[in-house]
Amino acid sequence: MREYSIAAIPADGIGPEVIAAGCTVLASLEKRLGDVRFAIENFDWGSDYYKKHGVMMPSDGLERLKKFDAIYFGAVGTPDVPDHITLWGLRLPICQGFDQYANVRPTKILPGITPPLRNCGVGDLDWVIVRENSEGEYSGHGGRAHRGLPEEVGTEVAIFTRVGVTRIMRYAFKLAQARPRKLLTVVTKSNAQRHGMVMWDEIAAEVAAEFPDVTWDKMLVDAMTVRMTLKPQSLDTIVATNLHADILSDLAGALAGSIGVAPTANIDPQRRFPSMFEPIHGSAFDIAGKGIANPIASFWTAAQMLDHLGEPEASARLMRAVEAVTGASILTPDLGGTATTKEVTEAVCDAIHSSNV
Ligand code: IPM
Ligand code: MG
Repeated sequence: MREYSIAAIPADGIGPEVIAAGCTVLASLEKRLGDVRFAIENFDWGSDYYKKHGVMMPSDGLERLKKFDAIYFGAVGTPDVPDHITLWGLRLPICQGFDQYANVRPTKILPGITPPLRNCGVGDLDWVIVRENSEGEYSGHGGRAHRGLPEEVGTEVAIFTRVGVTRIMRYAFKLAQARPRKLLTVVTKSNAQRHGMVMWDEIAAEVAAEFPDVTWDKMLVDAMTVRMTLKPQSLDTIVATNLHADILSDLAGALAGSIGVAPTANIDPQRRFPSMFEPIHGSAFDIAGKGIANPIASFWTAAQMLDHLGEPEASARLMRAVEAVTGASILTPDLGGTATTKEVTEAVCDAIHSSNV
């Protein structure tokens, strides 16, 4: 029996609904496979915890998470607490504290899902966006002075380090090399940002020399939005800074049909710490508690988690089950369907047990 310990942090809004759905699906996989066990422990950290204790997680939070094989995370954000408090109180301290520097965001159009540009003659897409996840525009450096006065100043400093850029470029080139097309696009903004972004470009070219079999090109981030929209087939693996990839991955999710299916893996490639897996969508308070949240992103990120844990067959089975269910048009309202979270989850569990999947 192979056993994996998983820390579940469902947190806010629809987070608890989609993480519970994911845990149901993992239990179904346990039954189907027979030789794998997921020992899941739930943590009640998040905005409700903040309202009671004044912090999003206890001060020894990271210490407590350290012993787990992986973290399964829902969403943070609540209407009555400022977003920067919830984000910097829970998710970012985990990503940065555990040096999960590679954020991996696959996008493809799942069967049965009608993408918004279907009538515009644009082609299929199958991408992986690699987001730098430890520095850049999210480094947290900056400050405020003269608050409230006319001369008030706010700075937000993006930090790029040679170590940080080199390691994310290597990760992206390696990933591109492992995919059939061996194609990488490096996103930049070195025309306007002439320091960190120029260094980013230089390091990309240096690392490229280590991967002669990978074809690569460079795109300015603004032009990249046009290429993603109008020439999606010209792209495969994409690497971008923390903020650029944040924005591009929402566009990618929308182009593939719904942000409700998009997963993300916050990876420590050196495996010193647990990696963290989460849906890209946020806490979506407008639909929280209604039972209609799309659980597909939470299933897809569970598949990423299984891959990372060294269970590629379980991961592939889960994705086949997800594709069988979307292909049968069992879809939540964000995808134009009428199914509930529970119905989609039950259908995926049935598909996991079906001999055809
Ligand atoms: C994402 C999200 C987060 C981010 C939010 C919740 C701060 O949009 O993972 O893409 O910007 O990193
Ligand atoms: Mg985002």
